[in-house]
Amino acid sequence: MYRTVTCGELRLADVNKTVTLAGWVQRIRKMGAMTFVDLRDRYGITQLAFQEVAGNEQSKALLEQANKLGREYVLQVTGVVKERYSKNAQLPTGDIEIEVESINVLNPAAVPPFTIEDETDGGDDIRMKYRYLDLRRSCVRKNLELRHKMAFEVRRYLDEQGFLEVETPVLVNSTPEGARDFIVPSRMNPGQFYALPQSPQILKQLLMVSGFDRYFQIVKCFRDEDLRADRQPEFTQIDCEMSFVEQEDILNMFEGMSRHLFKVIKGIDLPKLPRMTWADAMKYYGSDKPDTRFDMRFVELMDVLKGYGFSVFDNAAYIGGICAKGAAHYTRKQIDQLTEFVKRPQVGAKGLVYARVEADGTVKSSVDKFYSPQVLEKLKEAMQAEAGDLILILSGDDANKTRKQLSELRLEMGSQLGLRDKNKYSCLWVVDFPMYEWSDEEQRLMAMHHPFTSPKPEDIPLLDTNPAAVRANAYDMVINGVEVGGGSIRIHDAKLQEKVFEILGFTPEQAQQKFGFLMNAFKYGAPPHGGLAYGLDRFVSLFAGLDSIRDCIAFPKNNQGKDMMLGAPGPVDQIQLDELQIKFVPQKQ
Ligand code: AMO
Repeated sequence: MYRTVTCGELRLADVNKTVTLAGWVQRIRKMGAMTFVDLRDRYGITQLAFQEVAGNEQSKALLEQANKLGREYVLQVTGVVKERYSKNAQLPTGDIEIEVESINVLNPAAVPPFTIEDETDGGDDIRMKYRYLDLRRSCVRKNLELRHKMAFEVRRYLDEQGFLEVETPVLVNSTPEGARDFIVPSRMNPGQFYALPQSPQILKQLLMVSGFDRYFQIVKCFRDEDLRADRQPEFTQIDCEMSFVEQEDILNMFEGMSRHLFKVIKGIDLPKLPRMTWADAMKYYGSDKPDTRFDMRFVELMDVLKGYGFSVFDNAAYIGGICAKGAAHYTRKQIDQLTEFVKRPQVGAKGLVYARVEADGTVKSSVDKFYSPQVLEKLKEAMQAEAGDLILILSGDDANKTRKQLSELRLEMGSQLGLRDKNKYSCLWVVDFPMYEWSDEEQRLMAMHHPFTSPKPEDIPLLDTNPAAVRANAYDMVINGVEVGGGSIRIHDAKLQEKVFEILGFTPEQAQQKFGFLMNAFKYGAPPHGGLAYGLDRFVSLFAGLDSIRDCIAFPKNNQGKDMMLGAPGPVDQIQLDELQIKFVPQKQ
Protein backbone atom coordinates (compact mmCIF):
# COMPACT_ATOMS: atom_id res chain seq x y z
CA MET A 1 0.00 0.00 0.00
CA TYR A 2 1.38 3.36 -1.02
CA ARG A 3 -0.58 5.13 1.67
CA THR A 4 -2.75 4.34 4.66
CA VAL A 5 -4.44 7.76 4.81
CA THR A 6 -4.96 10.75 2.50
CA CYS A 7 -3.66 14.26 3.13
CA GLY A 8 -7.13 15.51 4.05
CA GLU A 9 -8.33 13.16 6.75
CA LEU A 10 -6.22 13.25 9.90
CA ARG A 11 -7.66 14.94 13.00
CA LEU A 12 -6.83 15.22 16.73
CA ALA A 13 -8.48 11.84 17.32
CA ASP A 14 -5.72 10.26 15.23
CA VAL A 15 -2.86 11.50 17.45
CA ASN A 16 -0.18 8.87 18.08
CA LYS A 17 -1.20 6.72 15.10
CA THR A 18 1.53 5.72 12.70
CA VAL A 19 0.47 6.56 9.17
CA THR A 20 1.80 6.59 5.61
CA LEU A 21 0.86 9.41 3.23
CA ALA A 22 1.68 10.13 -0.40
CA GLY A 23 1.39 13.41 -2.27
CA TRP A 24 3.07 16.50 -3.67
CA VAL A 25 5.17 19.09 -1.85
CA GLN A 26 3.12 22.27 -1.74
CA ARG A 27 5.39 24.42 0.38
CA ILE A 28 8.60 24.13 2.44
CA ARG A 29 9.34 26.38 5.39
CA LYS A 30 12.86 26.15 6.82
CA MET A 31 13.31 27.50 10.33
CA GLY A 32 16.84 26.59 11.45
CA ALA A 33 16.66 23.30 13.28
CA MET A 34 13.10 22.74 12.06
CA THR A 35 11.56 22.34 8.61
CA PHE A 36 7.88 22.12 7.79
CA VAL A 37 6.62 20.63 4.54
CA ASP A 38 3.00 20.88 3.38
CA LEU A 39 2.07 17.67 1.59
CA ARG A 40 -0.88 17.92 -0.80
CA ASP A 41 -3.15 15.45 -2.54
CA ARG A 42 -6.68 15.65 -3.94
CA TYR A 43 -8.14 15.52 -0.44
CA GLY A 44 -6.21 18.23 1.36
CA ILE A 45 -2.95 19.31 2.92
CA THR A 46 -1.09 17.76 5.84
CA GLN A 47 1.88 19.35 7.57
CA LEU A 48 5.02 17.25 7.90
CA ALA A 49 7.41 18.26 10.67
CA PHE A 50 11.16 17.64 10.69
CA GLN A 51 13.19 18.57 13.75
CA GLU A 52 16.77 17.81 14.60
CA VAL A 53 16.99 16.32 18.07
CA ALA A 54 20.45 16.59 19.64
CA GLY A 55 22.22 13.26 19.57
CA ASN A 56 19.66 11.66 17.28
CA GLU A 57 21.39 10.92 13.96
CA GLN A 58 18.20 9.80 12.23
CA SER A 59 16.46 13.12 12.96
CA LYS A 60 19.46 14.97 11.57
CA ALA A 61 19.46 12.86 8.38
CA LEU A 62 15.71 13.37 7.90
CA LEU A 63 16.05 17.13 8.32
CA GLU A 64 18.81 17.17 5.72
CA GLN A 65 16.63 15.14 3.38
CA ALA A 66 13.70 17.51 3.91
CA ASN A 67 15.86 20.53 3.21
CA LYS A 68 16.74 19.10 -0.19
CA LEU A 69 13.13 18.66 -1.30
CA GLY A 70 11.66 20.95 -3.93
CA ARG A 71 8.15 22.17 -4.76
CA GLU A 72 5.94 19.50 -6.34
CA TYR A 73 8.25 16.59 -5.50
CA VAL A 74 6.18 13.40 -5.13
CA LEU A 75 6.72 11.85 -1.71
CA GLN A 76 5.75 8.89 0.37
CA VAL A 77 6.25 9.51 4.09
CA THR A 78 5.67 7.46 7.19
CA GLY A 79 5.42 9.01 10.63
CA VAL A 80 3.42 9.53 13.80
CA VAL A 81 0.46 11.92 14.09
CA LYS A 82 1.15 14.62 16.68
CA GLU A 83 -0.88 17.49 18.06
CA ARG A 84 0.41 20.76 16.64
CA TYR A 85 1.92 23.41 18.85
CA SER A 86 0.55 26.29 16.76
CA LYS A 87 -2.68 25.20 15.13
CA ASN A 88 -4.00 26.40 11.77
CA ALA A 89 -7.75 27.00 11.91
CA GLN A 90 -7.87 27.49 8.10
CA LEU A 91 -7.01 23.84 7.43
CA PRO A 92 -9.25 20.86 8.31
CA THR A 93 -6.05 19.03 9.29
CA GLY A 94 -4.70 22.13 11.02
CA ASP A 95 -4.69 20.62 14.53
CA ILE A 96 -2.14 17.93 13.72
CA GLU A 97 1.17 17.34 12.01
CA ILE A 98 3.23 14.27 11.12
CA GLU A 99 6.49 13.63 12.94
CA VAL A 100 8.21 12.00 10.00
CA GLU A 101 10.15 8.75 10.45
CA SER A 102 10.98 8.04 6.81
CA ILE A 103 10.73 9.80 3.43
CA ASN A 104 10.72 8.12 0.07
CA VAL A 105 11.03 10.51 -2.87
CA LEU A 106 8.83 8.80 -5.47
CA ASN A 107 9.68 11.43 -8.06
CA PRO A 108 11.51 14.75 -8.07
CA ALA A 109 9.88 17.63 -9.98
CA ALA A 110 11.10 20.48 -12.12
CA VAL A 111 10.30 23.92 -10.73
CA PRO A 112 6.71 24.59 -11.85
CA PRO A 113 6.17 27.65 -14.08
CA PHE A 114 3.74 29.21 -11.57
CA THR A 115 2.90 28.74 -7.92
CA ILE A 116 0.35 26.04 -7.38
CA GLU A 117 -1.81 27.86 -4.84
CA ASP A 118 -5.33 29.29 -4.99
CA GLU A 119 -3.80 32.76 -5.32
CA THR A 120 -1.36 32.02 -8.11
CA ASP A 121 1.13 34.21 -9.96
CA GLY A 122 0.32 32.38 -13.22
CA GLY A 123 -1.55 34.31 -15.94
CA ASP A 124 -4.25 32.69 -18.05
CA ASP A 125 -2.02 31.63 -20.93
CA ILE A 126 0.62 29.93 -18.84
CA ARG A 127 -1.97 28.17 -16.69
CA MET A 128 -3.71 26.84 -19.81
CA LYS A 129 -0.42 25.67 -21.28
CA TYR A 130 0.31 23.74 -18.09
CA ARG A 131 -3.30 22.92 -17.34
CA TYR A 132 -2.33 19.63 -15.66
CA LEU A 133 -0.51 21.72 -13.02
CA ASP A 134 -3.33 24.26 -12.83
CA LEU A 135 -5.69 21.38 -12.05
CA ARG A 136 -3.64 20.65 -8.90
CA ARG A 137 -4.89 23.97 -7.45
CA SER A 138 -7.72 23.25 -5.05
CA CYS A 139 -9.93 26.08 -6.39
CA VAL A 140 -9.85 24.53 -9.87
CA ARG A 141 -10.15 20.96 -8.63
CA LYS A 142 -13.25 21.91 -6.62
CA ASN A 143 -14.99 23.00 -9.82
CA LEU A 144 -14.42 19.58 -11.37
CA GLU A 145 -15.62 17.88 -8.21
CA LEU A 146 -18.79 19.96 -8.37
CA ARG A 147 -19.20 19.09 -12.04
CA HIS A 148 -18.95 15.39 -11.23
CA LYS A 149 -21.47 15.71 -8.45
CA MET A 150 -23.96 17.60 -10.62
CA ALA A 151 -23.66 15.10 -13.49
CA PHE A 152 -24.10 12.28 -10.97
CA GLU A 153 -27.23 13.87 -9.45
CA VAL A 154 -28.67 14.51 -12.92
CA ARG A 155 -28.27 10.83 -13.71
CA ARG A 156 -29.77 9.82 -10.38
CA TYR A 157 -32.82 12.08 -10.85
CA LEU A 158 -33.45 11.11 -14.47
CA ASP A 159 -32.95 7.41 -13.76
CA GLU A 160 -35.53 7.64 -10.97
CA GLN A 161 -37.93 9.23 -13.46
CA GLY A 162 -37.48 6.31 -15.88
CA PHE A 163 -35.12 7.99 -18.37
CA LEU A 164 -32.66 5.84 -20.33
CA GLU A 165 -29.21 7.15 -21.17
CA VAL A 166 -28.53 6.32 -24.81
CA GLU A 167 -25.31 7.22 -26.62
CA THR A 168 -25.51 8.68 -30.10
CA PRO A 169 -22.72 8.87 -32.69
CA VAL A 170 -20.24 11.70 -33.03
CA LEU A 171 -19.46 11.15 -36.69
CA VAL A 172 -22.74 12.31 -38.20
CA ASN A 173 -23.84 14.91 -40.68
CA SER A 174 -25.04 18.46 -40.34
CA THR A 175 -27.45 19.08 -37.43
CA PRO A 176 -29.81 22.02 -37.39
CA GLU A 177 -28.69 24.27 -34.53
CA GLY A 178 -27.63 27.15 -36.71
CA ALA A 179 -23.88 27.39 -35.99
CA ARG A 180 -21.07 26.34 -38.34
CA ASP A 181 -20.17 22.65 -38.34
CA PHE A 182 -16.84 21.09 -37.50
CA ILE A 183 -16.24 18.63 -40.30
CA VAL A 184 -14.17 15.45 -40.52
CA PRO A 185 -12.98 14.08 -43.87
CA SER A 186 -13.68 10.43 -44.64
CA ARG A 187 -10.70 8.45 -45.97
CA MET A 188 -12.90 5.59 -47.10
CA ASN A 189 -15.21 7.95 -48.96
CA PRO A 190 -12.91 10.51 -50.58
CA GLY A 191 -14.39 13.97 -50.94
CA GLN A 192 -17.03 13.23 -48.32
CA PHE A 193 -17.21 14.58 -44.82
CA TYR A 194 -18.80 13.86 -41.51
CA ALA A 195 -20.01 16.75 -39.42
CA LEU A 196 -19.68 16.66 -35.63
CA PRO A 197 -23.07 17.04 -33.93
CA GLN A 198 -24.07 20.53 -32.83
CA SER A 199 -26.52 18.56 -30.70
CA PRO A 200 -28.07 15.09 -30.94
CA GLN A 201 -31.38 16.77 -31.87
CA ILE A 202 -32.40 14.58 -34.81
CA LEU A 203 -31.13 11.37 -33.24
CA LYS A 204 -33.10 11.88 -30.06
CA GLN A 205 -36.22 12.50 -32.10
CA LEU A 206 -35.55 9.25 -33.95
CA LEU A 207 -35.24 7.50 -30.58
CA MET A 208 -38.76 8.73 -29.84
CA VAL A 209 -39.94 7.13 -33.09
CA SER A 210 -38.21 3.95 -31.81
CA GLY A 211 -40.31 4.08 -28.66
CA PHE A 212 -37.65 5.08 -26.06
CA ASP A 213 -40.08 7.51 -24.55
CA ARG A 214 -37.76 9.02 -21.95
CA TYR A 215 -34.23 9.59 -23.25
CA PHE A 216 -31.30 11.52 -21.88
CA GLN A 217 -27.61 11.77 -22.54
CA ILE A 218 -24.77 13.79 -21.04
CA VAL A 219 -23.12 14.48 -24.33
CA LYS A 220 -20.44 16.49 -26.08
CA CYS A 221 -21.69 18.95 -28.73
CA PHE A 222 -19.58 20.87 -31.20
CA ARG A 223 -20.22 24.32 -32.65
CA ASP A 224 -17.86 26.44 -34.67
CA GLU A 225 -19.00 29.87 -33.49
CA ASP A 226 -17.45 33.00 -32.00
CA LEU A 227 -16.40 32.23 -28.46
CA ARG A 228 -17.44 34.12 -25.34
CA ALA A 229 -17.21 33.58 -21.60
CA ASP A 230 -20.17 31.20 -21.74
CA ARG A 231 -19.34 29.50 -25.04
CA GLN A 232 -16.85 26.80 -25.94
CA PRO A 233 -16.49 25.09 -29.33
CA GLU A 234 -17.03 21.76 -27.61
CA PHE A 235 -19.33 21.81 -24.64
CA THR A 236 -21.55 19.37 -22.80
CA GLN A 237 -25.32 19.13 -22.88
CA ILE A 238 -27.70 17.32 -20.60
CA ASP A 239 -29.83 16.37 -23.57
CA CYS A 240 -33.37 15.09 -22.95
CA GLU A 241 -36.46 14.07 -24.91
CA MET A 242 -39.87 12.69 -23.93
CA SER A 243 -42.83 11.22 -25.82
CA PHE A 244 -46.55 11.69 -25.20
CA VAL A 245 -46.02 15.01 -23.50
CA GLU A 246 -47.11 18.60 -23.73
CA GLN A 247 -45.04 21.66 -22.90
CA GLU A 248 -46.41 21.67 -19.36
CA ASP A 249 -45.15 18.10 -18.73
CA ILE A 250 -41.65 19.00 -19.85
CA LEU A 251 -41.48 22.19 -17.83
CA ASN A 252 -42.61 20.32 -14.72
CA MET A 253 -40.19 17.43 -15.21
CA PHE A 254 -37.15 19.63 -15.65
CA GLU A 255 -38.15 22.15 -13.07
CA GLY A 256 -38.09 19.07 -10.84
CA MET A 257 -34.57 18.23 -11.97
CA SER A 258 -33.37 21.78 -11.28
CA ARG A 259 -35.07 21.71 -7.89
CA HIS A 260 -33.29 18.45 -7.09
CA LEU A 261 -29.90 19.93 -8.06
CA PHE A 262 -30.46 23.12 -6.06
CA LYS A 263 -31.52 21.09 -3.02
CA VAL A 264 -28.83 18.41 -2.94
CA ILE A 265 -25.91 20.51 -4.17
CA LYS A 266 -26.61 24.01 -2.84
CA GLY A 267 -29.08 23.22 -0.03
CA ILE A 268 -31.54 25.69 -1.58
CA ASP A 269 -35.30 25.07 -1.80
CA LEU A 270 -36.12 26.40 -5.24
CA PRO A 271 -39.57 28.03 -5.33
CA LYS A 272 -41.91 27.33 -8.26
CA LEU A 273 -40.32 29.00 -11.25
CA PRO A 274 -42.06 32.08 -12.57
CA ARG A 275 -42.73 32.21 -16.31
CA MET A 276 -42.26 35.20 -18.54
CA THR A 277 -43.26 35.44 -22.16
CA TRP A 278 -40.52 36.21 -24.64
CA ALA A 279 -42.45 39.39 -25.58
CA ASP A 280 -42.42 40.61 -21.96
CA ALA A 281 -38.75 39.69 -21.51
CA MET A 282 -37.88 41.86 -24.51
CA LYS A 283 -40.21 44.67 -23.44
CA TYR A 284 -39.11 44.91 -19.83
CA TYR A 285 -35.51 43.68 -19.96
CA GLY A 286 -34.47 43.96 -23.63
CA SER A 287 -33.18 40.40 -23.45
CA ASP A 288 -34.51 36.87 -23.86
CA LYS A 289 -32.44 35.89 -20.83
CA PRO A 290 -33.24 38.54 -18.25
CA ASP A 291 -31.23 38.74 -15.06
CA THR A 292 -34.10 38.88 -12.57
CA ARG A 293 -31.95 39.07 -9.46
CA PHE A 294 -32.87 42.76 -9.56
CA ASP A 295 -35.83 44.70 -10.89
CA MET A 296 -34.88 47.91 -12.77
CA ARG A 297 -37.39 47.14 -15.53
CA PHE A 298 -37.60 49.26 -18.65
CA VAL A 299 -40.25 51.95 -18.83
CA GLU A 300 -41.18 53.12 -22.31
CA LEU A 301 -41.16 56.90 -22.40
CA MET A 302 -42.38 57.75 -25.91
CA ASP A 303 -45.61 59.34 -24.62
CA VAL A 304 -43.81 61.26 -21.88
CA LEU A 305 -40.82 62.73 -23.70
CA LYS A 306 -41.70 63.10 -27.38
CA GLY A 307 -42.82 66.40 -28.87
CA TYR A 308 -40.94 68.99 -26.79
CA GLY A 309 -38.37 70.03 -29.38
CA PHE A 310 -35.54 67.72 -28.29
CA SER A 311 -34.82 66.30 -31.73
CA VAL A 312 -32.98 63.18 -30.50
CA PHE A 313 -36.14 62.04 -28.74
CA ASP A 314 -38.57 63.52 -31.25
CA ASN A 315 -37.04 61.41 -34.05
CA ALA A 316 -36.63 58.21 -32.01
CA ALA A 317 -38.48 54.96 -32.69
CA TYR A 318 -38.00 54.02 -29.05
CA ILE A 319 -37.27 55.89 -25.84
CA GLY A 320 -36.82 53.83 -22.70
CA GLY A 321 -35.60 54.42 -19.20
CA ILE A 322 -34.45 52.54 -16.13
CA CYS A 323 -34.58 53.75 -12.57
CA ALA A 324 -31.43 53.07 -10.55
CA LYS A 325 -32.66 53.19 -6.97
CA GLY A 326 -30.54 55.30 -4.65
CA ALA A 327 -28.00 56.22 -7.34
CA ALA A 328 -28.69 59.98 -7.50
CA HIS A 329 -25.34 60.49 -5.79
CA TYR A 330 -23.58 59.45 -9.02
CA THR A 331 -21.04 62.14 -9.84
CA ARG A 332 -20.62 63.85 -13.19
CA LYS A 333 -17.55 61.67 -13.73
CA GLN A 334 -19.45 58.45 -13.03
CA ILE A 335 -22.18 59.49 -15.45
CA ASP A 336 -19.56 60.35 -18.09
CA GLN A 337 -18.17 56.83 -17.62
CA LEU A 338 -21.65 55.38 -18.13
CA THR A 339 -21.97 57.46 -21.29
CA GLU A 340 -18.64 56.05 -22.49
CA PHE A 341 -19.92 52.58 -21.62
CA VAL A 342 -23.07 52.87 -23.75
CA LYS A 343 -21.08 54.39 -26.63
CA ARG A 344 -18.62 51.47 -26.81
CA PRO A 345 -18.94 49.60 -30.11
CA GLN A 346 -20.13 46.48 -28.26
CA VAL A 347 -23.12 48.47 -26.95
CA GLY A 348 -23.50 51.00 -29.75
CA ALA A 349 -25.72 53.76 -28.29
CA LYS A 350 -25.19 57.34 -29.40
CA GLY A 351 -25.59 58.95 -25.99
CA LEU A 352 -27.19 58.84 -22.58
CA VAL A 353 -29.72 61.15 -20.95
CA TYR A 354 -30.05 61.19 -17.19
CA ALA A 355 -32.31 62.71 -14.56
CA ARG A 356 -31.68 62.86 -10.83
CA VAL A 357 -34.42 63.00 -8.24
CA GLU A 358 -33.06 65.38 -5.60
CA ALA A 359 -33.62 65.02 -1.86
CA ASP A 360 -36.51 67.52 -2.04
CA GLY A 361 -38.17 65.46 -4.80
CA THR A 362 -37.41 67.88 -7.66
CA VAL A 363 -35.92 66.49 -10.85
CA LYS A 364 -32.67 67.72 -12.42
CA SER A 365 -31.87 66.35 -15.83
CA SER A 366 -29.25 66.65 -18.54
CA VAL A 367 -31.98 67.95 -20.86
CA ASP A 368 -33.57 70.55 -18.59
CA LYS A 369 -33.61 73.16 -21.33
CA PHE A 370 -36.14 71.12 -23.35
CA TYR A 371 -38.39 69.98 -20.56
CA SER A 372 -40.43 71.96 -18.05
CA PRO A 373 -40.54 70.89 -14.38
CA GLN A 374 -44.07 69.59 -15.08
CA VAL A 375 -42.85 67.21 -17.80
CA LEU A 376 -39.95 66.07 -15.61
CA GLU A 377 -42.47 65.41 -12.84
CA LYS A 378 -44.39 63.20 -15.29
CA LEU A 379 -41.15 61.40 -16.09
CA LYS A 380 -40.55 60.81 -12.38
CA GLU A 381 -44.05 59.39 -12.03
CA ALA A 382 -43.74 57.13 -15.08
CA MET A 383 -40.45 55.79 -13.72
CA GLN A 384 -41.89 55.46 -10.20
CA ALA A 385 -38.77 57.27 -9.08
CA GLU A 386 -38.30 58.68 -5.60
CA ALA A 387 -35.90 61.08 -3.93
CA GLY A 388 -32.35 59.74 -4.31
CA ASP A 389 -32.98 57.80 -7.54
CA LEU A 390 -31.18 58.17 -10.85
CA ILE A 391 -33.12 57.80 -14.11
CA LEU A 392 -31.12 56.73 -17.18
CA ILE A 393 -32.64 57.05 -20.64
CA LEU A 394 -31.63 55.72 -24.06
CA SER A 395 -33.30 56.32 -27.38
CA GLY A 396 -32.75 55.21 -30.96
CA ASP A 397 -34.24 54.76 -34.38
CA ASP A 398 -34.37 50.96 -34.10
CA ALA A 399 -36.52 49.85 -31.16
CA ASN A 400 -35.02 46.38 -30.79
CA LYS A 401 -31.44 47.61 -30.97
CA THR A 402 -32.14 50.34 -28.43
CA ARG A 403 -33.70 47.82 -26.06
CA LYS A 404 -30.57 45.68 -26.31
CA GLN A 405 -28.42 48.71 -25.51
CA LEU A 406 -30.62 49.56 -22.53
CA SER A 407 -30.28 45.93 -21.44
CA GLU A 408 -26.48 46.28 -21.37
CA LEU A 409 -26.79 49.48 -19.36
CA ARG A 410 -29.21 47.81 -16.95
CA LEU A 411 -26.77 44.94 -16.35
CA GLU A 412 -23.90 47.37 -15.87
CA MET A 413 -25.90 49.37 -13.31
CA GLY A 414 -26.90 46.11 -11.62
CA SER A 415 -23.22 45.22 -11.29
CA GLN A 416 -22.19 48.69 -10.13
CA LEU A 417 -24.91 48.77 -7.48
CA GLY A 418 -24.00 45.27 -6.23
CA LEU A 419 -27.33 43.75 -7.30
CA ARG A 420 -25.83 40.73 -9.08
CA ASP A 421 -24.75 38.68 -6.10
CA LYS A 422 -23.37 35.32 -7.26
CA ASN A 423 -24.72 33.61 -4.16
CA LYS A 424 -28.27 34.66 -4.94
CA TYR A 425 -30.19 32.71 -7.60
CA SER A 426 -33.12 33.90 -9.65
CA CYS A 427 -34.52 31.30 -12.05
CA LEU A 428 -37.39 31.51 -14.50
CA TRP A 429 -38.82 30.03 -17.68
CA VAL A 430 -38.98 32.26 -20.71
CA VAL A 431 -41.81 30.90 -22.88
CA ASP A 432 -43.67 31.64 -26.12
CA PHE A 433 -40.62 32.39 -28.26
CA PRO A 434 -41.37 33.44 -31.84
CA MET A 435 -41.06 30.62 -34.39
CA TYR A 436 -38.95 32.75 -36.72
CA GLU A 437 -36.53 35.61 -36.64
CA TRP A 438 -35.51 37.72 -39.59
CA SER A 439 -31.91 37.38 -40.71
CA ASP A 440 -30.46 40.51 -42.33
CA GLU A 441 -27.46 38.47 -43.45
CA GLU A 442 -29.49 35.80 -45.24
CA GLN A 443 -32.48 38.02 -46.04
CA ARG A 444 -34.93 35.36 -44.94
CA LEU A 445 -36.79 34.09 -41.91
CA MET A 446 -34.73 31.67 -39.81
CA ALA A 447 -35.92 29.22 -37.16
CA MET A 448 -35.43 30.89 -33.79
CA HIS A 449 -34.95 27.52 -32.07
CA HIS A 450 -34.66 24.87 -34.77
CA PRO A 451 -36.85 23.81 -37.72
CA PHE A 452 -38.54 20.93 -35.86
CA THR A 453 -40.08 23.22 -33.26
CA SER A 454 -43.86 23.21 -33.17
CA PRO A 455 -45.89 26.39 -33.54
CA LYS A 456 -48.52 27.08 -30.90
CA PRO A 457 -51.69 25.41 -32.22
CA GLU A 458 -53.64 28.66 -31.99
CA ASP A 459 -51.02 30.44 -34.15
CA ILE A 460 -50.97 27.84 -36.96
CA PRO A 461 -53.36 29.88 -39.19
CA LEU A 462 -50.82 32.75 -39.06
CA LEU A 463 -48.27 30.57 -40.88
CA ASP A 464 -50.06 31.50 -44.10
CA THR A 465 -50.75 35.15 -43.36
CA ASN A 466 -48.04 36.47 -41.03
CA PRO A 467 -45.37 33.86 -40.22
CA ALA A 468 -43.20 36.37 -38.38
CA ALA A 469 -45.96 36.66 -35.75
CA VAL A 470 -46.21 32.90 -35.07
CA ARG A 471 -45.25 31.86 -31.56
CA ALA A 472 -43.59 28.52 -30.87
CA ASN A 473 -44.01 25.97 -28.14
CA ALA A 474 -40.44 26.73 -27.16
CA TYR A 475 -38.94 27.58 -23.78
CA ASP A 476 -35.66 28.47 -22.11
CA MET A 477 -34.64 28.13 -18.50
CA VAL A 478 -32.79 31.25 -17.39
CA ILE A 479 -30.77 31.58 -14.19
CA ASN A 480 -29.18 34.92 -13.24
CA GLY A 481 -29.26 36.16 -16.83
CA VAL A 482 -27.75 32.97 -18.26
CA GLU A 483 -29.63 30.69 -20.65
CA VAL A 484 -28.92 27.36 -18.98
CA GLY A 485 -31.29 25.30 -21.05
CA GLY A 486 -33.78 25.39 -23.85
CA GLY A 487 -36.07 23.19 -25.87
CA SER A 488 -39.40 22.81 -27.56
CA ILE A 489 -42.33 20.60 -28.44
CA ARG A 490 -41.56 19.13 -31.87
CA ILE A 491 -43.65 18.90 -34.97
CA HIS A 492 -44.76 15.31 -35.53
CA ASP A 493 -47.11 16.00 -38.42
CA ALA A 494 -45.46 15.66 -41.86
CA LYS A 495 -47.68 18.29 -43.53
CA LEU A 496 -46.98 20.91 -40.88
CA GLN A 497 -43.27 20.14 -41.04
CA GLU A 498 -43.32 20.65 -44.82
CA LYS A 499 -44.97 24.03 -44.41
CA VAL A 500 -42.41 25.12 -41.81
CA PHE A 501 -39.56 24.09 -44.12
CA GLU A 502 -41.21 26.04 -46.94
CA ILE A 503 -41.38 29.22 -44.84
CA LEU A 504 -37.69 28.71 -43.99
CA GLY A 505 -36.98 28.81 -47.70
CA PHE A 506 -36.23 25.09 -48.27
CA THR A 507 -37.63 23.61 -51.48
CA PRO A 508 -39.23 20.16 -50.93
CA GLU A 509 -36.11 18.66 -52.57
CA GLN A 510 -33.74 20.54 -50.28
CA ALA A 511 -35.78 19.58 -47.22
CA GLN A 512 -35.78 15.97 -48.40
CA GLN A 513 -32.03 16.03 -48.96
CA LYS A 514 -31.22 17.60 -45.59
CA PHE A 515 -33.78 16.02 -43.27
CA GLY A 516 -35.28 13.27 -45.44
CA PHE A 517 -34.42 10.47 -43.05
CA LEU A 518 -36.29 12.20 -40.21
CA MET A 519 -39.30 12.93 -42.40
CA ASN A 520 -39.30 9.34 -43.65
CA ALA A 521 -39.05 8.02 -40.11
CA PHE A 522 -42.07 10.11 -39.20
CA LYS A 523 -44.11 8.17 -41.77
CA TYR A 524 -43.81 5.09 -39.57
CA GLY A 525 -45.66 6.44 -36.56
CA ALA A 526 -44.04 9.33 -34.71
CA PRO A 527 -45.39 9.93 -31.21
CA PRO A 528 -46.05 13.49 -30.06
CA HIS A 529 -42.77 14.46 -28.40
CA GLY A 530 -40.63 17.28 -27.09
CA GLY A 531 -37.58 17.92 -24.99
CA LEU A 532 -34.83 20.25 -24.01
CA ALA A 533 -31.11 20.44 -23.39
CA TYR A 534 -29.21 22.08 -20.57
CA GLY A 535 -25.70 23.38 -20.94
CA LEU A 536 -23.89 21.42 -18.21
CA ASP A 537 -20.88 23.76 -18.30
CA ARG A 538 -23.12 26.78 -17.74
CA PHE A 539 -25.08 25.09 -14.96
CA VAL A 540 -21.88 24.14 -13.11
CA SER A 541 -20.41 27.63 -13.59
CA LEU A 542 -23.51 29.18 -12.04
CA PHE A 543 -23.34 26.88 -9.04
CA ALA A 544 -19.59 27.54 -8.67
CA GLY A 545 -19.98 31.32 -9.16
CA LEU A 546 -17.52 31.37 -12.06
CA ASP A 547 -17.11 34.15 -14.62
CA SER A 548 -16.25 31.75 -17.43
CA ILE A 549 -17.33 28.20 -18.22
CA ARG A 550 -13.67 27.42 -18.99
CA ASP A 551 -12.99 27.12 -15.28
CA CYS A 552 -15.21 24.07 -14.89
CA ILE A 553 -13.84 22.24 -17.94
CA ALA A 554 -10.76 20.08 -17.39
CA PHE A 555 -9.09 20.94 -20.68
CA PRO A 556 -10.80 23.96 -22.24
CA LYS A 557 -10.03 25.91 -25.41
CA ASN A 558 -9.03 29.57 -25.43
CA ASN A 559 -10.85 32.37 -27.27
CA GLN A 560 -9.19 31.39 -30.54
CA GLY A 561 -10.52 27.85 -30.12
CA LYS A 562 -7.04 26.56 -29.31
CA ASP A 563 -5.91 24.06 -26.73
CA MET A 564 -2.61 25.63 -25.67
CA MET A 565 -1.51 22.51 -23.83
CA LEU A 566 -2.03 20.05 -26.68
CA GLY A 567 -1.20 22.57 -29.38
CA ALA A 568 -4.47 21.75 -31.11
CA PRO A 569 -5.46 22.48 -33.79
CA GLY A 570 -2.14 21.76 -35.51
CA PRO A 571 -0.83 20.72 -38.89
CA VAL A 572 -0.99 17.06 -39.99
CA ASP A 573 1.51 15.04 -42.02
CA GLN A 574 1.33 15.41 -45.77
CA ILE A 575 0.79 11.66 -45.97
CA GLN A 576 -2.47 12.00 -44.03
CA LEU A 577 -3.69 14.72 -46.38
CA ASP A 578 -2.70 12.62 -49.39
CA GLU A 579 -4.67 9.66 -48.07
CA LEU A 580 -7.68 11.91 -47.70
CA GLN A 581 -7.03 13.43 -51.12
CA ILE A 582 -7.08 16.87 -49.52
CA LYS A 583 -4.95 19.79 -50.60
CA PHE A 584 -4.54 22.97 -48.57
CA VAL A 585 -4.78 26.05 -50.76
CA PRO A 586 -4.04 29.16 -48.68
CA GLN A 587 -6.40 32.02 -49.42
CA LYS A 588 -4.75 35.10 -50.94
CA GLN A 589 -5.05 37.95 -48.41
P1 AMO B 1 -29.62 25.01 -27.72
O1 AMO B 1 -28.91 25.34 -28.98
O2 AMO B 1 -30.45 26.09 -27.07
O3 AMO B 1 -30.65 23.81 -27.95
O4 AMO B 1 -28.57 24.46 -26.67
C1 AMO B 1 -29.00 24.00 -25.40
C2 AMO B 1 -28.11 24.57 -24.30
O5 AMO B 1 -26.74 24.28 -24.55
C3 AMO B 1 -25.92 25.31 -24.04
N1 AMO B 1 -25.02 25.80 -25.12
C4 AMO B 1 -23.70 26.04 -24.96
N2 AMO B 1 -22.90 25.94 -23.89
C5 AMO B 1 -21.59 26.24 -24.04
N3 AMO B 1 -21.02 26.58 -25.22
C6 AMO B 1 -21.79 26.69 -26.33
N4 AMO B 1 -21.21 27.01 -27.49
C7 AMO B 1 -23.19 26.41 -26.23
N5 AMO B 1 -24.22 26.40 -27.10
C8 AMO B 1 -25.32 26.03 -26.41
C9 AMO B 1 -26.84 26.41 -23.54
C10 AMO B 1 -28.14 26.09 -24.23
O6 AMO B 1 -29.26 26.52 -23.48
N6 AMO B 1 -31.19 20.59 -29.55
C11 AMO B 1 -31.58 21.77 -28.81
C12 AMO B 1 -32.27 21.42 -27.52
C13 AMO B 1 -33.67 20.91 -27.71
O7 AMO B 1 -34.44 21.53 -28.45
O8 AMO B 1 -34.00 19.90 -27.06
C14 AMO B 1 -30.34 22.61 -28.52
O9 AMO B 1 -29.21 22.22 -28.73
O10 AMO B 1 -26.97 26.28 -22.13
